[in-house]
Amino acid sequence: MKSVQGKIVIITGASSGIGAATAKELSRRGATVVLAARRQSELDQLAREINSTGGIALAVQTDASKSEDLKHLVTTTIEHFGRIDVLYNNAGIGDEGPLAAMTDAGLERIVATNLLAPIRLSREVLPHMQRQRSGHIISTGSVASHIASPGLYSMTKFALRGFSDALRREVWRSGIHVSLVSPGFIRTAMTKGLKLPMPGPEAVALAVVGLIERPRREVVVPSFYRPLILLAKLWPWLADTITSRMRLFEPKD
Ligand SMILES: NC(=O)c1ccc[n+]([C@@H]2O[C@H](COP(=O)([O-])OP(=O)(O)OC[C@H]3O[C@@H](n4cnc5c(N)ncnc54)[C@H](OP(=O)(O)O)[C@@H]3O)[C@@H](O)[C@H]2O)c1
Repeated sequence: MKSVQGKIVIITGASSGIGAATAKELSRRGATVVLAARRQSELDQLAREINSTGGIALAVQTDASKSEDLKHLVTTTIEHFGRIDVLYNNAGIGDEGPLAAMTDAGLERIVATNLLAPIRLSREVLPHMQRQRSGHIISTGSVASHIASPGLYSMTKFALRGFSDALRREVWRSGIHVSLVSPGFIRTAMTKGLKLPMPGPEAVALAVVGLIERPRREVVVPSFYRPLILLAKLWPWLADTITSRMRLFEPKD
């Protein structure tokens, strides 16, 4: 089993929710964390919290939809720490509305953040991981990477799963691992207003720790979503019936 201790980990979407919880959990276990997101004050606050309790955290303000910001994130990490052991592609945004109502800017924002950013960042870290002959790229997919829900969000998560599988096969036996962590509903800002019992983001943080310690293709969290994914693949008509009733684009409060 590999250890998290001493690993240099880039985490996108670290300013809240799953990314922030994962940063805390990894640093508690001795990893150095590079925190990336747009909200500088949230990143600084988290970095202060981690650094004041004996951990090592560096905040790098990053808009994941901008290629130059992603390059800057990687060069800054290398300048400070000399290597990158784990890239955790976690930043993501939800749908702004049904397809017919979306603007070009909205379409581009969701694809750039949820899909292009993980692809671009993986491309940027790969030469470093190839030089090291080790590394791990983990991305946050979703149960919506398997069971399509209305809207573009699910499409980006399906594509991210495809990318993760394809990249794993591309770098197979090079010492670089590629994994997907696929959460169901998790209590974060993204699900604010949803009236469902949900685990907190710490559940996903522990799944990410588990992937680093024992690399695998994918972890679904909570695991009770696994049989639902299987059912949706066996009987897609049933998934059509249920997901088409999801009122995703109506106010939830
Ligand atoms: N919560 C769930 O039920 C659930 C289920 C399945 C998958 N997921 C996935 O989990 C990931 C984390 O979401 P969350 O639930 O933790 O929600 P969250 O609390 O809203 O976190 C989203 C994170 O993404 C960052 N982000 C958004 N746009 C960005 C951009 N352009 N550049 C850089 N960072 C950006 C946000 O930071 P800034 O706003 O500061 O930039 C924030 O840190 C997402 O990929 C989401 O799709 C969530």
